[in-house]
Amino acid sequence: MKKPYIFVTRKCSEYQLKPLYDIADVDMWPEEEVPCPRELLIEKAKKADALLTMLSDSIDQEILDLATNLKVVANLAVGFDNIDIKYANEKEIVVCNTPDILTDTTADLTFGLVLSVARRLMEAADYVKNNQWKSWGPLLLAGHDVHHKTIGIVGMGKIGQAVAKRAIGFEMNILYHNRTRNHEAEEMVGASYCSLDQLLKESDFVVCLTPLTNETKQLFNMKSFKIMKKTAIFINASRGAVVNEDDLYQALINKEIAGAGLDVFTQEPIQADHPLVGLHNVVALPHIGSASMETRFSMMHLCASNITAVLTGNKPLTKVELK
Ligand code: DGY
Repeated sequence: MKKPYIFVTRKCSEYQLKPLYDIADVDMWPEEEVPCPRELLIEKAKKADALLTMLSDSIDQEILDLATNLKVVANLAVGFDNIDIKYANEKEIVVCNTPDILTDTTADLTFGLVLSVARRLMEAADYVKNNQWKSWGPLLLAGHDVHHKTIGIVGMGKIGQAVAKRAIGFEMNILYHNRTRNHEAEEMVGASYCSLDQLLKESDFVVCLTPLTNETKQLFNMKSFKIMKKTAIFINASRGAVVNEDDLYQALINKEIAGAGLDVFTQEPIQADHPLVGLHNVVALPHIGSASMETRFSMMHLCASNITAVLTGNKPLTKVELK
């Protein structure tokens, strides 16, 4: 019997994908940092039984229509806004993501951004590296405290809750806003639910962790930044398009807010000459929320398990269900 054909859109660990090699012909794009060109992805998708995709691959109607053998798409991310899930479901193509296993890693990075911007860690590290440090000064690179401040988490899912857990260690007051109340978060981490406007008004750190949907697109715009405290720091570890980046830039240069920590951008990769990246009070990272070796290997393994399950007629472990 002909073996199924699987296309992996980026170089991944063959060891983690071993279950796939046992049951199928596996074809992998050999580059780690250069994406598979769209035309090639289309060619591969046309004959694929399964695709292991990255968040940078757009799996849209065009690809789903051409991929007539496709049974499963396993996305190496918890977010799945790069895939037309509704259309895939109509075509009975299973879509899987990698929830849970990246929760703590992404929360660590998010809290790292809070600390980096508040305590000016990147500026301070550059100061030493650039040989600017001549003497100790009372207000040299003085930032803002994190402990005992108010953190407002927009999008209280699992990662939001894990960020809140870290905030408890810093004895912070925790506010959150979510589409629906998260009673578990209220009980487990003492987070208080409030309206988005109240959260924006009262928080010292506004942390965006909401998924990108039609409802959350450009949720953060000039109106939101104007509501925030002039001393507030904005953190985004979800998706860039949740923010109007021009408004964020204006808010930062007009001192409507004090700083921003960004792991995600509307256009990725963002270029070094982008106005936001040049600001001294912005920490910009290349979408590394879940990028620890342990977690990325677990994510690869989970993608492989999901594909194996679907191709062998079993239930996938983490199928995306549209709510
Ligand atoms: C994801 O997996 O969707 C996140 O962006 C983690 O970096």
